[in-house]
Amino acid sequence: MGDGSMAKKLYIETVGCQMNVLDSEMVVASLRREGYELAASADQADAILFNTCSVRQHAEDKVYSALGTLKRLKQQRPQCVIGVLGCMAQKDQRQVFERAPYVDLVVGPGQLHRVPELIEAARSEKERQVAVSLDRTSGTLDAIRRSHETFDPLRDPAMRPTPFQAYLRIQIGCDKFCTYCVVPNTRGPEQGRAPGDILAEARVLADQGCREVTLLGQTVNSYRHVDGERVTRLSDLLEAVAQIDGIRRIKFVTSYPLDMTDDLLDAVRSLEKCSPYLHVPLQSGSDEVLRRMKRGYTVAQYDEMMQRIAERLPGAAVASDFIVGFCGETEWDFEQTVEAVRKYRFKNSFIFKYSERPGTKAADRIPDDVPYEVKQRRNRELLALQNAISEEDNQCFIGQTVEVLVEGLSKAARQRKSAGPPVQLTGRTPCDRIVVFEGNERQIGQFLPVVVYEANAHTLFGEVVTGEYCHDGDSVQLTLP
Ligand code: SAH
Ligand code: SF4
Ligand code: F3S
Repeated sequence: MGDGSMAKKLYIETVGCQMNVLDSEMVVASLRREGYELAASADQADAILFNTCSVRQHAEDKVYSALGTLKRLKQQRPQCVIGVLGCMAQKDQRQVFERAPYVDLVVGPGQLHRVPELIEAARSEKERQVAVSLDRTSGTLDAIRRSHETFDPLRDPAMRPTPFQAYLRIQIGCDKFCTYCVVPNTRGPEQGRAPGDILAEARVLADQGCREVTLLGQTVNSYRHVDGERVTRLSDLLEAVAQIDGIRRIKFVTSYPLDMTDDLLDAVRSLEKCSPYLHVPLQSGSDEVLRRMKRGYTVAQYDEMMQRIAERLPGAAVASDFIVGFCGETEWDFEQTVEAVRKYRFKNSFIFKYSERPGTKAADRIPDDVPYEVKQRRNRELLALQNAISEEDNQCFIGQTVEVLVEGLSKAARQRKSAGPPVQLTGRTPCDRIVVFEGNERQIGQFLPVVVYEANAHTLFGEVVTGEYCHDGDSVQLTLP
């Protein structure tokens, strides 16, 4: 190392949400500009980075235990720079050094543009580097906002799992302050990016061959950008992105129930490129629990939203998140959640056991009083119900033709590394359903009609057919040539 003739090697691990996946893409792109190449393992890397998540204790434990395994490596190769990036860096700041003293670098999600410079500083000055944003009480709103810088322009198709799909950030931060959640602290105040910047980036993506963009925000449908008299909403952005040649599919996540306005549902309906797929977490089916979570809506309001979705977007797929075992959740409260899952038949639900997070209102004021075993049982029960519903609903696709954007080799094909053709491929429908089928590697990146012959809770299995198709949610009518 360090002889100047070899490219510097970078190893990065990413946990957490889509925002982190996108941030890692940007960090890698910025380091590639400085001459770094990706390494397959930490052993030989000159820089080892962890892009971290604080949303649950488990996500943090994983990172600290991975850091633990690097202690020896750092003793043997002290010139190697170890960095902790992302939400846990923002939340724990210098405390990271107490738990892992051989870390050189702590960089919050609002300061990631400084990573290349900070790695160099850590190396040359042999001193720990910390770059975090202001927390939400230490400064004027304007200063706090400015300290959470969005980090977006370096799009590098080589850094994405597939060059045909990309996340596109339209909003940073969150202002909802649900009582259980660290995100408003780690990601700072909600800020909508300027529409001009978003559209310029969408055009770059399209020019790079990207066919599907997923617009990202913690409460993506609360997006608003005000410029003098001009107010831009998510529905306006969808219309503008849909006009870009090359982009064929547009999704957006994650939505907030109270901001699911009619203009948005109408835009999704009228724009053929826009997938009728909505991820709108309910979190709990009990008003009491929702109130303690400070989610800001009641079950009746969520129900009203679901009715409007059913009326304006028949065939739409709705996904949800749930937290089980939140402070004070009784058996009756939990039953209300079970009933809600039964009633709304979500396409899928992400189900989490409540994890108390330091610095949140719930941690300060409401006791985490549901025993772990109870959380575990409720999690299992709700998941079993959701899986049964997903399986039943997926089986309705048997015999139907769906439109699939081919993403790559299926997991089984990657593990087997068998030489095709045919090889097993995987892709997604407009409504985010995973489809596995046989084909050849040339088809990766194409949109193909696939007729479904088998289905379980998580996957549709099918075979490619030829012909023209027209859409209605995921179900496609095929006119044979
Ligand atoms: N902004 C998104 C969600 C961000 S976090 C939204 O509001 O919908 C993703 C999910 O993690 C949340 O929807 C919630 O279900 C879960 N979650 C957040 N904080 C949690 C905590 N302290 N314990 C358990 N699950 C949590
Ligand atoms: Fe967290 Fe609530 Fe904001 Fe989602 S809306 S990121 S759950 S505070
Ligand atoms: Fe985790 Fe931060 Fe995302 S806490 S869920 S990585 S915004």
